[in-house]
Amino acid sequence: MRGRSVGDKPRWGGRPVYGLRVRPSFSMGNETLRVPMALFALNRQRLCEKLRKNAAVPKKSVLVLQGGEQTQRYCTDTDVVFRQESYFHWAFGVTEGDCYGAVDVAAGKSLLFVPKLPESYATWMGTIHPREHFKRKYAVDEVHFTCDVAEVLKKLQPDVLLTLRGLNTDSGHTTREASFEGISQFNVNNVVLHPEIAECRVIKTDMELELLRYTNRISSEAHKEVMKAVRVGMKEYELESLFQHYCYTRGGMRHTSYTCICGSGVNSSVLHYGHAGAPNEKTIRDGDMCLFDMGGEYYCYGSDITCSFPANGRFTPEQRDVYQAVLKASRAVMNAIKPGVAWPDMHRLAERVQLEELARIGILKGSVDEMMKVHLGAMFMPHGLGHLLGCDVHDVGGYPEGVDRIDEPGLRSLRTARHLVAGMVLTVEPGIYFIDHLLDQALANPAQACFFNADVLARFRGFGGVRIEDDVAVTPTGMELLTCVPRSVEEIEDFMAQGSGPTKQFVQQTA
Ligand code: GLY
Ligand code: MN
Ligand code: MN
Repeated sequence: MRGRSVGDKPRWGGRPVYGLRVRPSFSMGNETLRVPMALFALNRQRLCEKLRKNAAVPKKSVLVLQGGEQTQRYCTDTDVVFRQESYFHWAFGVTEGDCYGAVDVAAGKSLLFVPKLPESYATWMGTIHPREHFKRKYAVDEVHFTCDVAEVLKKLQPDVLLTLRGLNTDSGHTTREASFEGISQFNVNNVVLHPEIAECRVIKTDMELELLRYTNRISSEAHKEVMKAVRVGMKEYELESLFQHYCYTRGGMRHTSYTCICGSGVNSSVLHYGHAGAPNEKTIRDGDMCLFDMGGEYYCYGSDITCSFPANGRFTPEQRDVYQAVLKASRAVMNAIKPGVAWPDMHRLAERVQLEELARIGILKGSVDEMMKVHLGAMFMPHGLGHLLGCDVHDVGGYPEGVDRIDEPGLRSLRTARHLVAGMVLTVEPGIYFIDHLLDQALANPAQACFFNADVLARFRGFGGVRIEDDVAVTPTGMELLTCVPRSVEEIEDFMAQGSGPTKQFVQQTA
């Protein structure tokens, strides 16, 4: 270790303070997580190593990414709160909008391009920082202005610029490829970068895992606050608001990873409830099941957690049965997760356990093997078992070349069909929902109707649904559970009975 001394120029570009070297990092202060810029340097290094091994990538290549743009509300001058584009964030960790980034693949040299701001910016927006400020802040090798991108890149004399063009297999949208004045002077390859960078994003580094542990810890605590606060008579959005407030005040999370889903009663069977047409505005009633799917996001890394519980803190026998069926599926999957396992097999495992339990409850009858053949599981769980999680809640890389979507009910909604690899982070989110139009479809189909006890099923109409969603990291021998909330029926009832008392710490059991 080198000696400490005031004014000693640190090799990594940090600022010496009181004799200590401060490594460039991001944090929101207070107790929030400090994230080293080394996370992004390592991401760039991993990407360059992969690109160097790729025979289709010429030796003198420079990859160029365009960051997200600061936008305004429609035709107004009201800024939309900026959130960085995820690939750009993954590579540079830059929080400002309207930037570009480039990396010389052979040398690993990183270049950041920031907008040259007009003098009026200093009046309305604050300090105009010199380029040196961004170089220190983001620990990159060079910083230039965006107006000079072409000129600066030309000096690197690349044989080819690698730009990002590829399909997001969840949204069906294509990535925004970097474009700037003067790009026509370069040879551009927009094919090779996307699969390589998406693949890098699939496997999380230790520093990324630390971030995802943090987003899960804060979001788990926020869910617990919600469970303690929920009361019959409240509006669903009051709990949405409490979750966001906790994540922001305690975790420095300005954004959630997705729109909060706070369904109570029959709304708990609406998979993506909470949208503009159904904005979590129902009054919570006695006897309602609540399904709250909410995740905080810190520094563009997400979480995705669902807690299902009775609004009044006590499960009815029906609610208990359905809840325990889903929990059993969740734990069966968690006990099976390890490298090499095919994700569709985990989906099928969850379906099988849930069908067995629905038969035990009495809603279904007959052979579970036969039910599986007619895809009965998808009538209760129409979504996929889980998905990759990272900078995006439905993270990229689910279907690389050679991995095909399985075109069967339920499985076709699975956001990845990959075999698990250590370092992947996924959600495990089995669920059972009583969705009238799906149940009516099943009852109208003789191949499926024969498995129903219609009179028992009738008791569950209007029940809503249960989803139990946890985030897990695949380890070399199994998995690490990142989420930490009360999960068993007893834990939930005990916890909710505490009301506004001191928060009990939970260690989730997976066996
Ligand atoms: N919150 C969306 C999902 O669970 O995938
Ligand atoms: Mn979710
Ligand atoms: Mn999810």
